[in-house]
Amino acid sequence: MRILVYSAHSHDRRDLLAANQRHGHALDFTEARLGPETLRLAAGYPAICTFVNDPLDADTLARLQAGGTGLILLRCAGYNQVDVAVAERLGLTVLRVPAYSPHAVAEHTVGLLLTLNRHLHRAYNRTRENDFRLEGLEGFDLVGKTVGVIGAGRIGTVFARIMRGFGCRVLIHDPLGVPPALLAEGMIASALDDLLAESDVVSLHCPLTPATHHLIGAAALARMKPGVMLINTSRGALLDTALVIEALKSGRIGALGLDVYEQEGDLFFEDLSSSIVTDDVFQRLLTFPNVVVTGHQAFFTREALAAIAETTLSNADDYLAGRAAGSGNRVDSSLLRPAPV
Ligand code: NAI
Repeated sequence: MRILVYSAHSHDRRDLLAANQRHGHALDFTEARLGPETLRLAAGYPAICTFVNDPLDADTLARLQAGGTGLILLRCAGYNQVDVAVAERLGLTVLRVPAYSPHAVAEHTVGLLLTLNRHLHRAYNRTRENDFRLEGLEGFDLVGKTVGVIGAGRIGTVFARIMRGFGCRVLIHDPLGVPPALLAEGMIASALDDLLAESDVVSLHCPLTPATHHLIGAAALARMKPGVMLINTSRGALLDTALVIEALKSGRIGALGLDVYEQEGDLFFEDLSSSIVTDDVFQRLLTFPNVVVTGHQAFFTREALAAIAETTLSNADDYLAGRAAGSGNRVDSSLLRPAPV
């Protein structure tokens, strides 16, 4: 099947071409993001392959369908960038990679947590300048601290287990409930309000949906422990970034680790080091000494990339074989039904 791969970086080419030796599709690559200017490249391709910041809004989907595209292969788990209802109405098949390496994201989350707690980002700069003072680098023991995990899915589960390994008390909130295996391992199922009130560290591992948009807003921030550490490796719009900045200024949030940002589509995955970045909210975030931002790299391990490439091409095989309708990788409106509380 002819597939045009958008937002193709060197690692995408490497892994997709390697995996394709087992699948035999005809792959073409463009570094361009999917957008109004680049949509015409897809004309005549029965399938395109996109990444997290390639918007698949109603207009884009309609133009893709008009150009002959029937299949959209997402090289990611998240599907918040897709207008799912419109895709369904147009008869477009959208397939994703729901699980590739929950360990990659969970381990990066721990990396952010440790960096913030022990101020490794500041220590790195200091020692390079032969400044060996310890002022400002004090952290806290993780053992015995309470860590709140929002979302007990694949990534939240791995993260919760790692934090148990550190000797933390782990509270988990998930509207679908907490898997019994985690409860047996000593994790505690918690209502969201209790988790927010009791946790020294809060980490977000739920998807971005209309119900979770700005989950961390005014009410949640008011409930959190003063000085809490907040980590978001899920999707930027789970946080109301403007309010989070106010909470950083007041000290309500004591440390913030982000791998995702509400407006990251305008920033991430590009070299903007010689440009003027006009997003003042993002630039303000970078001024805080207790904020660490990485540019959506939590998934970025060798193992995860290979798994993404393999599943993406298997999804194309399923589509050709007429198996897409029953595929667990299909993005359709059943994913959007609100979870029971
Ligand atoms: P998953 O689907 O296995 O788990 C998500 C869990 O969140 C489910 O158990 C669901 O019931 C729960 N949930 C839904 N609404 C909730 C709410 N209001 N409060 C608490 N929990 C709620 O997803 P997985 O694989 O664990 O991924 C989680 C998120 O991580 C993805 O949705 C994606 O946005 C993000 N992600 C980020 C990556 C990165 O590189 N930074 C890479 C991969 C995923």
